[in-house]
Amino acid sequence: KDSKDIVKELIQWYKENARDLPWRRTKNPYHIWLSEIMLQQTRVEAVKPYFQRFLQTCPTIEALANTEEDTLLKLWEGLGYYSRVRNLQKAAKTVVDEYGGALPQDYHALRKLKGIGPYTAGAIASIAFSLPYAAVDGNVLRVMSRLTADERDITLASTKGAWEEELSSMMPTGDEGNFTQGLMELGATVCLPNGNPKCEICPVRKYCQAYRKNAVLQFPVKSPK
Ligand code: ADE
Repeated sequence: KDSKDIVKELIQWYKENARDLPWRRTKNPYHIWLSEIMLQQTRVEAVKPYFQRFLQTCPTIEALANTEEDTLLKLWEGLGYYSRVRNLQKAAKTVVDEYGGALPQDYHALRKLKGIGPYTAGAIASIAFSLPYAAVDGNVLRVMSRLTADERDITLASTKGAWEEELSSMMPTGDEGNFTQGLMELGATVCLPNGNPKCEICPVRKYCQAYRKNAVLQFPVKSPK
């Protein structure tokens, strides 16, 4: 089936073309967690210096749990959405109390931690622990909507849930993190929103149903808010 070939092409492309980012040089679950929280509402280039500085002050989950909130807020100053760092510390305290300071290698246990939703749990599970859970955000929904010319409204929770299930079932053993990050990277650098998709350099163009129909810009379908 096409989906197997798409997964393979995407992973090969990712391995050859991934941007070299600080959180891609590690599988440390804490580092992956921190990067995904910072990247949720902030651009990659802006996150880089904050990520490095945060880890200098809080090199472990235990250190994060024990750092003064004022210190954390200063480290976060300029990133915005300060509830992110408050939740991060709450979760860090839980990880210390319940798991001895190491993130649990379990999707459902990750989901119970403050501030860790399906996207972040999927990212940590697949990238840090090689577990078959997808991380579906707006970029990934756009990529999949175009690849399959999927007419479902991506603003519906049911559409997101369906892609979480589908992509989790497609996870290649041994390349879970590369698959997750390959989808993110394609959405961030090639399968761009609005009028700007770079189909001419897309590694999976030959499988793309929206491209085939000359309808890339008609996807993803979003209900008007
Ligand atoms: N956006 C969200 N997660 C990301 C990651 N791991 N690398 C780059 N951009 C991202």
